[in-house]
Amino acid sequence: MLPGFSRETKSRVNEVNMRLPLRRAPHRRAWVLGVTLGLLALLIFWLLLTKNPEDAPVWKVSPARKSQVHEHVHSVLEGECRHGNARKNLLVPTSSHKTQPFLWKNAPLSEDLFLYPPPFGFSGVQDKVEELLQLLPDSDVLPQLAADKCQRCVVIGNGGVLKGLELGPLIDRFDIIIRLNSGPLGKFSVDVGNRTSIRMSYPEGTPLHWADTDPHAVFVGVMYKSVDISWMSAMIRKVTVSLWDWLFFWQKVPDHIPIEPPRFRLINPHVIRETALDLLKYSPPRPRLWGWDQNIPTLGVSALNLASLLCDEVSLAGFGYNLSQQGTPLHYYDHLPLSAMSRQKMHNIDKETELLKLLVREGTVTDLTGGIHCSFCHS
Ligand SMILES: *[C@@H]1O[C@H](CO)[C@@H](O)[C@H](O)[C@H]1NC(C)=O
Ligand SMILES: *[C@@H]1O[C@H](CO)[C@@H](O)[C@H](O)[C@H]1NC(C)=O
Repeated sequence: MLPGFSRETKSRVNEVNMRLPLRRAPHRRAWVLGVTLGLLALLIFWLLLTKNPEDAPVWKVSPARKSQVHEHVHSVLEGECRHGNARKNLLVPTSSHKTQPFLWKNAPLSEDLFLYPPPFGFSGVQDKVEELLQLLPDSDVLPQLAADKCQRCVVIGNGGVLKGLELGPLIDRFDIIIRLNSGPLGKFSVDVGNRTSIRMSYPEGTPLHWADTDPHAVFVGVMYKSVDISWMSAMIRKVTVSLWDWLFFWQKVPDHIPIEPPRFRLINPHVIRETALDLLKYSPPRPRLWGWDQNIPTLGVSALNLASLLCDEVSLAGFGYNLSQQGTPLHYYDHLPLSAMSRQKMHNIDKETELLKLLVREGTVTDLTGGIHCSFCHS
């Protein structure tokens, strides 16, 4: 006998079993039918939920398209590397004084950093930032940046245009590889490579399980709100975020980033401000009580500006959507259709697309996958 299953309970069970046929006899068939149908419905529901994701339609790239793209990427990798090319051609008015890409320990915080709140500055969060700076390394250089060598950067967007192109080995040949948010590697490496120089993200966009195996990968934090700064401090110190802070995140955030403190970087908010005001020509941020002004650059365009500060030549991959290509997935790592693209309240996608098209057309940056402007498509 099972422990705790007393004789009393057992006899009550028998009683119930015996009473059922007597009292409920006329309804029994309906009752059994109801239960059976209910179980069947549950089973169907469960089957739908656990449907194998591999069953989704497979996105196929034509061999002709693939070889066209590969040829283009080869020509970019083997073409001339011009020192300072990307930065010079971005024509950022403030480029006379070189914007520092990152802030670091003991970095002097200029007064104009406190003109605007995050992500454009640190107004209202000075104490938190000073605390965070103490945890950062005391120099802002990347381990693999060689001053004398002409550097080629590639910023990997998460767009479905990357899927099936098998650009991985070519992407890995760039000097600096910047990945955004949770853009995964692993089984996707054949399309996106396996090296990571920089993973740039904010708390909610950061992968819950860190997947970069590259020993040089650094995490570059972009701070959009006050709790993001507390979160980044907690990640460096390897402690948990306070319960109160958790309430301010709009999505689950990782509670651990398994890299050593010297591999954390804090982006200089000037990089974001410059992207908004100088590249996208947005008007200066103004205080708002509710909602957004659509004046916050996406991480993609901000990464392009960061890349121009770190590298000489900048390429983009996985950016833009080709709406005339039916069935292209939204991301290279899932099966969401393009139509699942969410309406943006914070970002102005049209303005960004316009800027990117211009930069690719005039040759300031190259678009490896042709989703922004396809310079290599024969049409
Ligand atoms: C990437 O893959 C290549 C080939 O499989 C391997 O030699 C290399 O160590 C990998 N690099 C990283 C950073 O995982
Ligand atoms: C978009 O897809 C169509 C159809 O496959 C192709 O002809 C066109 O060149 C593509 N455009 C770009 C910008 O890649």
